[in-house]
Amino acid sequence: MNAYNIILFTVLATLGSFSCSQNLDCIVSQFSQLKSVIRSCKYIIVSNLTVPAKTTLELNLLSGTSLVFEGRTTFEYAEWPGPLVKIHGDNVTIKGAPDSVLDGQGALYWDGQGGNGGKRKPKFIRIIATNSNFEKINLINCPVHCVTISHSNNITIRHWNIDVSDGDKNNFTGHNTDGFDVTRVQNAVIDNCTVQNQDDCIAINKGSNIRVSNMYCSGGHGLSLSVGTSNTHFKENVVTNVTFIDSIVHRSANGIHLKTHVDSGLGLISNILYDNIHLTDITNFGINVQQDYSNGSSTGVPKGNIPIVNFTLNNISGNMKSFRESPTLAVKILCGQDGCSDWTWNDVVITDARNASYCNYEPVGFSCK
Ligand SMILES: *[C@@H]1O[C@H](CO)[C@@H](O)[C@H](O)[C@H]1NC(C)=O
Ligand SMILES: *[C@@H]1O[C@H](CO)[C@@H](O)[C@H](O)[C@H]1NC(C)=O
Ligand SMILES: *[C@@H]1O[C@H](CO)[C@@H](O)[C@H](O)[C@H]1NC(C)=O
Ligand SMILES: *[C@@H]1O[C@H](CO)[C@@H](O)[C@H](O)[C@H]1NC(C)=O
Ligand SMILES: *[C@@H]1O[C@H](CO)[C@@H](O)[C@H](O)[C@H]1NC(C)=O
Ligand SMILES: *[C@@H]1O[C@H](CO)[C@@H](O)[C@H](O)[C@H]1NC(C)=O
Ligand SMILES: *[C@@H]1O[C@H](CO)[C@@H](O)[C@H](O)[C@H]1NC(C)=O
Ligand SMILES: *[C@@H]1O[C@H](CO)[C@@H](O)[C@H](O)[C@H]1NC(C)=O
Ligand SMILES: *[C@@H]1O[C@H](CO)[C@@H](O)[C@H](O)[C@H]1NC(C)=O
Ligand SMILES: *[C@@H]1O[C@H](CO)[C@@H](O)[C@H](O)[C@H]1NC(C)=O
Repeated sequence: MNAYNIILFTVLATLGSFSCSQNLDCIVSQFSQLKSVIRSCKYIIVSNLTVPAKTTLELNLLSGTSLVFEGRTTFEYAEWPGPLVKIHGDNVTIKGAPDSVLDGQGALYWDGQGGNGGKRKPKFIRIIATNSNFEKINLINCPVHCVTISHSNNITIRHWNIDVSDGDKNNFTGHNTDGFDVTRVQNAVIDNCTVQNQDDCIAINKGSNIRVSNMYCSGGHGLSLSVGTSNTHFKENVVTNVTFIDSIVHRSANGIHLKTHVDSGLGLISNILYDNIHLTDITNFGINVQQDYSNGSSTGVPKGNIPIVNFTLNNISGNMKSFRESPTLAVKILCGQDGCSDWTWNDVVITDARNASYCNYEPVGFSCK
């Protein structure tokens, strides 16, 4: 037991209802210990654990559990869909101890194809939770999508560091390494996280009342909404009441990206605010709103099946920087018929684009020159 453990156990033991203080049953350092610990303990330390290949670290926690990751949690290599970690719980708190890390060993998988082919790459973490907090988790080298949060209500994610920057070094072979994918989530806060990756920093697919603040995103595809599924129920394709505030997007393909899928059922994006977002060295589009997305690419033919209503931008600043001579547009707006209404954009200034902006709909307060 190191100093950190001793302090933690002392603190936890004094909180009462702590059944494991006399023995070390609540530390998981061997995978074989996991099942009995999560069934019986409410204070759990996952310490320097190696998770066997083709196995999910299933954290199906008792209500009220606190779990701390310490040391290095590693996942043996295997080509399979994952996820490598699955957290399920109500009223749980999950934290990373200082200097702890969960290592997905992405470099063993990256082949430039992400989720579209090549090696089968496991998704990293899946969270399904209510009334829960997730703090200070350090993730490195996701094989593909890093964190998927789904079917969750009233959760906070704070002070995470997701670092897939090695995916750029290795001849740009990390791909589809989304930081946070958020789907069917209500009442969530994602705050003070750093994401260095090769796809969306955060992508919200379905949900409401979500606040994203103090993010630092680098290398990826920006702060995104991506809405539309093959499900034809209207409520499956709705994102509403979302705020992105006080954040920085650096050296990414887009700063702000909203896309709707033309082959989806009807849906709605409404009451969206981006406020105080600073963009630096954006390589393709400062702000990209497209209603022409399908099967992973732009069709060029937009549809208004998922209208974007009441979309506010406030104080968006920054610059573009072409990468390998790529075209750069400060703003692109491609709306389908009746797809866009009630947009107000104030103080949107993005400099150094090579190409003129393009807009087939013009927000109040913004001139698309
Ligand atoms: C949540 O868990 C904490 C810690 O175990 C406990 O004190 C509290 O009563 C729980 N809250 C609810 C609403 O269950
Ligand atoms: C994890 O393992 C490393 C290497 O064996 C060791 O140096 C470190 O102290 C361990 N960390 C914890 C928190 O036990
Ligand atoms: C939200 O979760 C927190 C625990 O993280 C809890 O204290 C609070 O009561 C929950 N709010 C609602 C409305 O359930
Ligand atoms: C990157 O690609 C070049 C040329 O294909 C190759 O020589 C080099 O070894 C590669 N570097 C890495 C880190 O894979
Ligand atoms: C998160 O908070 C810490 C401490 O306040 C601060 O140093 C850091 O810059 C913040 N990170 C982001 C991405 O805002
Ligand atoms: C969105 O916010 C509005 C205004 O605050 C509120 O009336 C509405 O219930 C919210 N929508 C959802 C789906 O929570
Ligand atoms: C528009 O969205 C904002 C949040 O961005 C919200 O405060 C406001 O109530 C919404 N307006 C309407 C008419 O729903
Ligand atoms: C605009 O956003 C920047 C961050 O990008 C911030 O420093 C500045 O204070 C904001 N200005 C206002 C008037 O809120
Ligand atoms: C997308 O792909 C699906 C399945 O391959 C196909 O049925 C559909 O027509 C495609 N949609 C478009 C707009 O190309
Ligand atoms: C950007 O401008 C270049 C010429 O300056 C042009 O060849 C290219 O088609 C433009 N691309 C877009 C997307 O506007």
